[in-house]
Amino acid sequence: MDLLKRLMGSASSASAPQQDAVKLSPEARLIQGAFWMLLGREAQPIELRDELRALHAGDRQAFFLRLLSSTEFRQGLAAWKAGRSRRPDVQREDAALRALGPDDWFVDRAYEFLVGRPADDEGRRHYVAALAAGDSRSNVLRWLSLSEEFERRHQDLSAQGGFIPRDTQLCELANPAKWDNPDWMTVLLDLKVVPADKASMHRKGYEFTQLIFGLGRLGRLREDVRVLSVGAGHEAVLYWLANHTGSVTATDMYEEGRWDAIGAMEGDERVIHRPQEYAPFPYREDRLRFLKMDGRRLAFRAASFDVAYSLSSIEHFGGVAGAADAVDEMVRVVKPGGLLVLATEYLLSGPPHEEIFRPDEIHALARRPGLRLLQPIDEAVYRRYEYGVVDLVKNRFQTPHMVLRMGDTVFTTVMMFLERE
Ligand SMILES: C[S@@+](CC[C@H](N)C(=O)[O-])C[C@H]1O[C@@H](n2cnc3c(N)ncnc32)[C@H](O)[C@@H]1O
Repeated sequence: MDLLKRLMGSASSASAPQQDAVKLSPEARLIQGAFWMLLGREAQPIELRDELRALHAGDRQAFFLRLLSSTEFRQGLAAWKAGRSRRPDVQREDAALRALGPDDWFVDRAYEFLVGRPADDEGRRHYVAALAAGDSRSNVLRWLSLSEEFERRHQDLSAQGGFIPRDTQLCELANPAKWDNPDWMTVLLDLKVVPADKASMHRKGYEFTQLIFGLGRLGRLREDVRVLSVGAGHEAVLYWLANHTGSVTATDMYEEGRWDAIGAMEGDERVIHRPQEYAPFPYREDRLRFLKMDGRRLAFRAASFDVAYSLSSIEHFGGVAGAADAVDEMVRVVKPGGLLVLATEYLLSGPPHEEIFRPDEIHALARRPGLRLLQPIDEAVYRRYEYGVVDLVKNRFQTPHMVLRMGDTVFTTVMMFLERE
């Protein structure tokens, strides 16, 4: 007899409805009972083998804990909470549950497995009577699983069960890991401007979403927050922020020529007069204004805003010096304790370019007077990833669109969240 059969009392592939007919060892019966009661299915032979070994080693507590902590149990519980059955074949499940033993035995085990204590007389009487009156055994399990007592126990044992670790870094290179963060993805979807699937990932969507995600985590999505955007064009995020903050002021040169003619026509001046025509969704029109203004000479008094940000713009203001002038101006117009958020081009490899900053130039921008980086920049993102590079000259529409090249110069976005000291 092989090990599996020996452990199972010669019933290695018996399904639970047949358990009365074949002889299972008491431990194997306990395991099959617990699988049916907690997961709604029989234990597979290999599961039975391994759990029997654990039980023989005296690890009964760990056995129940393992089942109660499993994703499978959690999903079944969620289905019950949502008013659905936990398995598609309820009749098969009920037949298997009925085959486990008499009603009072079943109720006692249900208490033991779920609530972790012996059934009290009143509880046992109540559920045995319900079964005698025709209620199903899976209903008894569902009621117990939805009881306050079980809820408390489950919370205590597994409060964060199912919480998948997620990337929340704010200061970083455009990071594909964010597409695996459900909170971040909720924002991306809400922006409605770029497809949300991973194969379409785009650093534009990354910048918009990361800005909002960061402002949310830093507690700045509030009605009393005044926001300034520099080199704003008609970016979708302006309209989103108009719906979630007190006011948004969009500034840009909006000059005829380069920026109103190419690509997404970001510098299109018509947005000043007809902002609604660029809105991706309805927005609070009284919260958003567009002003023609040079980012290096902001026409606002000191400490006028709570947040100032600039996405993919300062690199076009005249090299590092132009970018530094704009950052200094943003520092001036933001209140102490306020936030600056900057997204700009970061050189990964290859020869320098006037509009793509080397890492040391990025660090120098982050160290402008009056500024403090909120966390070290994660600059190792593309040392961890295998990735494709978009050749902007050949085809700038290729996706994923996270790392780009112009000639031999390879670059991506860097995102920085800084506090105004
Ligand atoms: C690549 S676009 C980015 C626009 C927008 N932030 C976005 O992400 O869609 C760069 C923008 O910078 C603006 N710009 C260029 N020089 C500027 C300056 N000195 N001051 C303000 N805006 C400027 C352009 O008009 C253009 O709209």
